[in-house]
Amino acid sequence: MSSEQKELTQTPLLKIWVPWMSSSLSQRRGSSRPQFTNCPTMIVMVGLPARGKTYISKKLTRYLNWIGVPTQVFNLGQYRREVVQTYKNYEFFRPDNEEAMKIRRCLMLPIPQGREEGSSSVLQRRRATRQVFFIESICDDPEIIEANIMQVKLSSPDYENYDKEEALVDFLNRIDCYKMSYVSLDEEKDRHLSFIKIFNVGSRYLVNRVQDHIQSRIVYYLMNIHVTPRSIYLSRHGESELNLLGRIGGDSGLSSQGQKYARALSEFIRGQSIKDLKVWTSHMRRTIQTAEALGVPYEQWKALNEIDAGVCEEMTYEEIQATHPEEFALRDQDKYRYRYPKGESYEDLVHRLEPVIMELERQENVLVICHQAVMRCLLAYFLDKSADDLPYLKCPLHTVLKLTPLAYGCKVESFYLNIQAVNTHRDKPTNVNVARKPEEALRTVPEHL
Ligand code: ADP
Ligand code: F6P
Repeated sequence: MSSEQKELTQTPLLKIWVPWMSSSLSQRRGSSRPQFTNCPTMIVMVGLPARGKTYISKKLTRYLNWIGVPTQVFNLGQYRREVVQTYKNYEFFRPDNEEAMKIRRCLMLPIPQGREEGSSSVLQRRRATRQVFFIESICDDPEIIEANIMQVKLSSPDYENYDKEEALVDFLNRIDCYKMSYVSLDEEKDRHLSFIKIFNVGSRYLVNRVQDHIQSRIVYYLMNIHVTPRSIYLSRHGESELNLLGRIGGDSGLSSQGQKYARALSEFIRGQSIKDLKVWTSHMRRTIQTAEALGVPYEQWKALNEIDAGVCEEMTYEEIQATHPEEFALRDQDKYRYRYPKGESYEDLVHRLEPVIMELERQENVLVICHQAVMRCLLAYFLDKSADDLPYLKCPLHTVLKLTPLAYGCKVESFYLNIQAVNTHRDKPTNVNVARKPEEALRTVPEHL
């Protein structure tokens, strides 16, 4: 069976489109990041309803975008709701419902702009250019399926006018309709296809014909994620001596307010009564001193060290403007990709933090005590923020962010622990031209001693 045929017979509900591994990410000073060929990948999610296809595709898309692989997700269920505006009941999904089948077949053609372009040209282009990777989720545990339905399906627009019991019964009937035509990927017959089969929420995997770097990263990611409820706490270190002076980088210890915060953080964490909490710090004194106040074991990660500002380490923003005005403006022009001379960019930092994210995915409750730029990168991953927004995310000192993953996203709670600290956030100034006046460059610099 060809991959195209497989795609059409298996009634997949979701597709992810990974156009190209971007090569425009590395600019000016070159990039240490690997480059990839211009071969787009289409990821096809396969599985009966309530098997986590939406969950996996949203999460994987967020991860791929964060590591710099532009990715879009297409949900055929959404298209169906646009076309067939009122949902009556599961009978729409019966394989012998010919009218509905016509509509559903059409829904499978539109990737990515096919509905506007006409389907045949799109199909041709698809055959010519794409790698196809299938992700199949198989789950035969009725408790998991019922829990999934209760968690995400009953709130679907399809069931607006249903009561919960009726909706559950209808959805189970819908699954039975799909079962009549559903064909699972076959180890033998489909051995020429690239795929991963995930059994019962990751208790077992079957991986076949991984063809390139992207596919191997996808497989590695899928083998690390889990759905156990937990929270991730992100905090910067307590205010440091250099923060007080408005100096970036360095390796100073905590100011007296910073020490107060470390004690307040300890109390806050105790108050949360978190089961089996892991605490991670960077290798820098200010995060280690903050963790010490908690009186619990902690693990130090070099990967969590603050962005390396190279020749600008320990300078104030005013000094950078005075001594390297052009660099200062170039950073304002593209803060995500700008790399400090002999230092790092935010893009480099994301690359450095990938193993941290992977380990966070594997773990349950974790408190990460880190730094402003590092916290922005971690937060951007969980909140699906773009590369342009990432370097301006607000991560003030003395504030804990509690992130609780939900079925299709992440809940964020912010706790300011009421210990005063300096502001270290500098907004993007309006004028980012290298010829700007110093006062224009300095307009958004926060106050300091
Ligand atoms: P589908 O898109 O397949 O209809 P959803 O993605 O909407 O299903 O289902 C979401 C639920 O699936 C969430 O409650 C999530 O915890 C659960 N889930 C995530 N991964 C899996 C998996 N591999 N197998 C089964 N359920 C999963
Ligand atoms: O000012 C504190 C700090 O953590 C510095 O060490 C670091 O260079 C800076 O924040 C990162 O913030 P931005 O990228 O906004 O300069």
